[in-house]
Amino acid sequence: MKPRVLSGVQPSGNLHIGNYLGALKNWVRLQHDYECIYCIVDLHAVTVYQEPKELLSKIRETAALFLAAGIDPKISSVIVQSSVPAHAELAWMLTCVTPMGWLSRMTQFKAKSEKQETVGSGLFQYPVLMAADILLYQAAIVPVGDDQSQHLELTRDVAQRFNSLYGDTFVVPETKLPAVGARVMGLDDPLKKMSKSEPGAGHAIALLDPPDVIRKKFARATTDSNPCVDFGGLAPGVENLLNIFQAFAEWPDERMRSHFAGMRYGELKKQVAEMVIGRLEPLQSRYREITSEPGYLDGILREGADRVAPLANATVDLVKSRMGLYVRP
Ligand code: TRP
Repeated sequence: MKPRVLSGVQPSGNLHIGNYLGALKNWVRLQHDYECIYCIVDLHAVTVYQEPKELLSKIRETAALFLAAGIDPKISSVIVQSSVPAHAELAWMLTCVTPMGWLSRMTQFKAKSEKQETVGSGLFQYPVLMAADILLYQAAIVPVGDDQSQHLELTRDVAQRFNSLYGDTFVVPETKLPAVGARVMGLDDPLKKMSKSEPGAGHAIALLDPPDVIRKKFARATTDSNPCVDFGGLAPGVENLLNIFQAFAEWPDERMRSHFAGMRYGELKKQVAEMVIGRLEPLQSRYREITSEPGYLDGILREGADRVAPLANATVDLVKSRMGLYVRP
């Protein structure tokens, strides 16, 4: 049996090339060697207020983009978290074994709660729900960015605590970070990781941006006051542009150097834009196909949920019996 991989993404919309190069592309590759479950974590999204209509359309957009990016629903399961009720069920049981002190240490909670007028208790429990997503499927490998490593460490702690209280129940997952360091920075501020929540129009290249928008955004990207590429001292913005090109083109370092050394920034930006446009084109046309066929996406999401539900329910029953809860015969 292939080891199981699980990862999740919030349906916050506007998936961008940083999400693609940092996560999605890696997920597509993993699906041949592992049994993969990719989860759109809508229950995590509502830990802060979401406009209901917008949330629903973002969930659909995210799912369609997963498929358009190359996640193959025949070999991997694409699921919407809330459509498999066992996620919420297991989260409750794990909540009961998770000390509040562990959760108060989470840096993401501190950062997010500072921005809210009132903080729902779900935001505090956020990492426990994430632990449930992972432990529910006994996933061995969890590919996430380094911003999630504290949550993953907590997942391991919760699994170990449950195992020691109630006997061996959960696989304790490992983290797995992308092998190639595709860390994409903001075009307007190359010292900040490209982010979905950054407001500036010139910050991120969304996966569904049309070609002329992509050209404009790259044309405005921050560089430095030098006229051309100097590998002896690359400004962060220039390095970011080169990294983006290289991650899409998959050129080796030597080819990058000989091609770009001494190139004027204007020309560099044009070439990066055309590379990105060319690579996104097939994804965008698949996205249009997927979303124009009525019922197709819902069918995939239903199949995904149906496929994983027996696994999820088996774990919930096991947890119930370990804890002495009543298991419906
Ligand atoms: N917290 C993750 C993020 O914001 C999303 C997530 C939820 C997740 N459940 C998960 C990631 C399970 C990996 C595994 O990026």
